[in-house]
Amino acid sequence: MSSLREKGTPLPRLLARVLETGCEFLDTLDSRPVACTAAPPMPAGDLPQSGCGEIDALALFRRRIMPYLSASAGPRYWGFVTGGASPAALAGDWLAAVADQNPASSGDSIAPAVELQVLDWLRQLFGLPASFTGSLTSGATSANLLGLLCGRQFAGLAQGIDVAAGGMAGVHIEVLAASPHASSLKGLAMAGLGRDRVVKVACEADSERMQVADLERHLAASDSPGKIVLASAGTVTGTDFDDLAAIAALCRAHHAWLHVDAAFGLFAALLQERRQWLRGIELADSITSDAHKWLNVPYDSGIFLTRHVALLEAVLAVPSPYLPADGPLPHFMNRGVENSRRFRALPLWFALQAYGRDGVAGVVEDNCRQASRLAEWLDASPDYRLLAPCRLNVVVFRPERHAGVDVWLQKLNATGEVFMTPGRWRGEAAVRAAFSNWSTGDADVQRVIELLREAGRPDWGRPPGC
Ligand SMILES: Cc1ncc(COP(=O)(O)O)c(C=O)c1O
Repeated sequence: MSSLREKGTPLPRLLARVLETGCEFLDTLDSRPVACTAAPPMPAGDLPQSGCGEIDALALFRRRIMPYLSASAGPRYWGFVTGGASPAALAGDWLAAVADQNPASSGDSIAPAVELQVLDWLRQLFGLPASFTGSLTSGATSANLLGLLCGRQFAGLAQGIDVAAGGMAGVHIEVLAASPHASSLKGLAMAGLGRDRVVKVACEADSERMQVADLERHLAASDSPGKIVLASAGTVTGTDFDDLAAIAALCRAHHAWLHVDAAFGLFAALLQERRQWLRGIELADSITSDAHKWLNVPYDSGIFLTRHVALLEAVLAVPSPYLPADGPLPHFMNRGVENSRRFRALPLWFALQAYGRDGVAGVVEDNCRQASRLAEWLDASPDYRLLAPCRLNVVVFRPERHAGVDVWLQKLNATGEVFMTPGRWRGEAAVRAAFSNWSTGDADVQRVIELLREAGRPDWGRPPGC
């Protein structure tokens, strides 16, 4: 350690170089290939015995890594549901690293109080009652896991068994879902509930939306003493919203835990004409959302909210004499998977403080308008088929004159102009374009439309004369 203290580059000099490099990277977001589809392998080699120093490490980063990064923070990265980092969120994230706080427990820093405030602001942003709080997670996957762990505890207690203390022996739990995101299936595997044991509820016609009557039939037929229902507010391809009010009523009647995956769909609460799709979400027992999607906070940043925070803390309690257990503020280590974690709340605090409700809503509105514009163009083009109506920020389509959708998409992404991801819609190979970046402008949509005009032609990409 002493050598680090004695030999390092003066910090202001180093950080000035880092700032320069960061700005250079951000300045190229619009011009660098959106996806880096051919990064060279990292050179094999031994761990350096004596390091090269910070300035040389930065130079190596600039040479070996920076040129091969994607522009996933930029305006035409429309894969998955990826939000770029807004300026305020980026500032907060840099300062979170500078301060290097661990908000795991209270008593030595304001960090847990900031997390508590951010959770309350998020609750207000999404129009949820004051009974909801929770913790910031690494993403929607871990938030879904927390929902399942709480549901498992709830179901165990209904059978007189404290699962967190005594394990699953003798506990019976049925999990019911119509269109669970793959991350929930992973959560089921991690929670010992079995990803293959989900009772599949039917979907409505041409939709990923849960058929409430089928859920009712399954619940009535079930003799399992413990039940968890996984519902969706914004499915990943169709952006379908379950009828949460009806599902919540059934869950109450059948003593089932209701977890809602609203990773990006929760942001519909900011849209006057779409917020009714979330009607009933306030009756959910737990909710997942993501800040690194539509809140445009850097990775990794997820949101878990529940009306049963005491149950959450019972499941995740960290019993140890050297770890504090009480005090006026929550000990967030008792509310999440990690004991120690970064000051995730700070970038959210910056973003919400700097832009407020109107700023966040503005991004969501713009992205929905941009998605509609692309969908309308595709629908009118003879070269494409729009596979599902565009309701929110996702456009699902396929080229009409190219049989291999995946190969066509690879070629499209290799142009470096745009990045989209594959999907399936009603069994058919599809392309998904998801809008969730604050910096996407209408000109970006037009630029991609021009590219698609070319790419839709049957001879697109063929060498001349073939
Ligand atoms: C509906 C839904 N749930 C969960 C996830 C997983 O999110 P994360 O990658 O943040 O864990 C996603 C990611 O796209 C999603 O769309």
